[in-house]
Amino acid sequence: MASNTLTIIDNRTGKKYEVPVENGAIRAMDLRQIKVGDDDFGLMTYDPAFMNTAACKSKITFIDGDKGILRYRGYPIDQLAEQSTYLETAYLILYGELPTQAQLNEWHDNVIHHTIIHENIKKLMDGFHHDAHPMGMLVSTVAALSTFYPDAKNIFDEELRRKQTWRLIGKMITLAAFAYRHSIGMPYAYPDNDLSYTGNLLNMMFKMTEVKYRPHPVLEKALDVLFILHADHEQNCSANAMRSVGSSHVDPYSAIAAAAAALYGPLHGGANEEVLHMLQQIGSIDRVPEFIKKAKAGEGRLMGFGHRVYKNYDPRAKVIKRLADQVFEVTGVNPLLKIALELERIALEDEYFVKRKLYPNVDFYSGLIYQAMGFPLDMFPVLFAIPRASGWIAQWEELILDPEQRIARPRQLFLGHAERPYVPIVKRK
Ligand code: ACO
Repeated sequence: MASNTLTIIDNRTGKKYEVPVENGAIRAMDLRQIKVGDDDFGLMTYDPAFMNTAACKSKITFIDGDKGILRYRGYPIDQLAEQSTYLETAYLILYGELPTQAQLNEWHDNVIHHTIIHENIKKLMDGFHHDAHPMGMLVSTVAALSTFYPDAKNIFDEELRRKQTWRLIGKMITLAAFAYRHSIGMPYAYPDNDLSYTGNLLNMMFKMTEVKYRPHPVLEKALDVLFILHADHEQNCSANAMRSVGSSHVDPYSAIAAAAAALYGPLHGGANEEVLHMLQQIGSIDRVPEFIKKAKAGEGRLMGFGHRVYKNYDPRAKVIKRLADQVFEVTGVNPLLKIALELERIALEDEYFVKRKLYPNVDFYSGLIYQAMGFPLDMFPVLFAIPRASGWIAQWEELILDPEQRIARPRQLFLGHAERPYVPIVKRK
């Protein structure tokens, strides 16, 4: 018997099966042969929320949740945060290797030259209600881009995929900034190709009447680091949405709209906004113990705490905590920081959180920085979506080029009624 196999004995029939173990996993389809009778469909696995199911093979991002390790294409997140830039990291995530200087220059130019959006997208923006959530506007306008670039349907054309990638990454900042300007009733500010990626976003968001907007270098850099930290996170909810929708071979704009919609939820990218609401609701340090007590009693969650994969300090949260000091030196300290630090201190000592391995995640401190930089709360998930676009595209490309992948279609365990005859309405009780 080969050593890299798993032997299964079906106690219902007494039959024995041997299935191969490859990369620490068995293939779910190898279980289908396990049947109690000829008309049995075969054994399936039941795994709501994919708690222990690998749906793909990937070479992009590695996470060891127990050790608190995150690497993009092999490079540790803290080294990238310290030495790289967001656009360089996006290139790495998308194409597998760090670019040469010439490749980086070309990539940078291509992205920056695709930041401008069609004037009709601007008109579409105008149609939203004044208090529309910018994330809803982003989801809708990214989806609308597919109608402007019908060539995006040719998903197996490498050159066209490259073009959609420049467009998507370039236009994310413009759509985000325009959504913000619409919400405050300010005229849209157009991209400035002389600026960096994050400098350009700050320009389009905050430019007033000055002829040339000059971003504060510390804030521009801090935003760039935050973008590096958010660029990819392997098979999370939104990446899974990107892959699942992308598996139907729809264009990447439609798939990104689906991924962004998944990110919008409060259990995912909406959590950073929720953290600030929570800190504001707590209001002062002396009310922290009472809030923790309620969270432990199941009356609401400690937002920004806990993670499906990390059962240790989220490595991104470590970098963000250090970054916060640099930003607060420029902007002044966010008064909610004291509450956050106290919340973290108590939670990390409390048996409830220790036992469940609940640590601060990336969202716990990012919102405090964004708020100090002048971003309104409802822009937080948008600021998450912008850099994650590179991760989504990389995940999508990996999916569509993987010969083993087919349209995503999970199974179900049907527990409903067996067949029964239709009851006319007059006979129903
Ligand atoms: N506050 C209080 N208790 C919590 C929290 C929390 N933030 N998170 C988990 N728990 C408890 C649960 O009640 C559960 O307790 P029980 O075993 O007594 O029932 C236990 O810890 C396990 O929690 P699950 O919900 O099963 O863990 P899961 O892996 O499904 O959820 C999640 C992970 C969604 C991130 C969760 O921890 C959570 O809701 N956190 C708050 C929201 C948040 O910060 N989300 C951002 C995630 S990071 C990101 O998306 C970028």
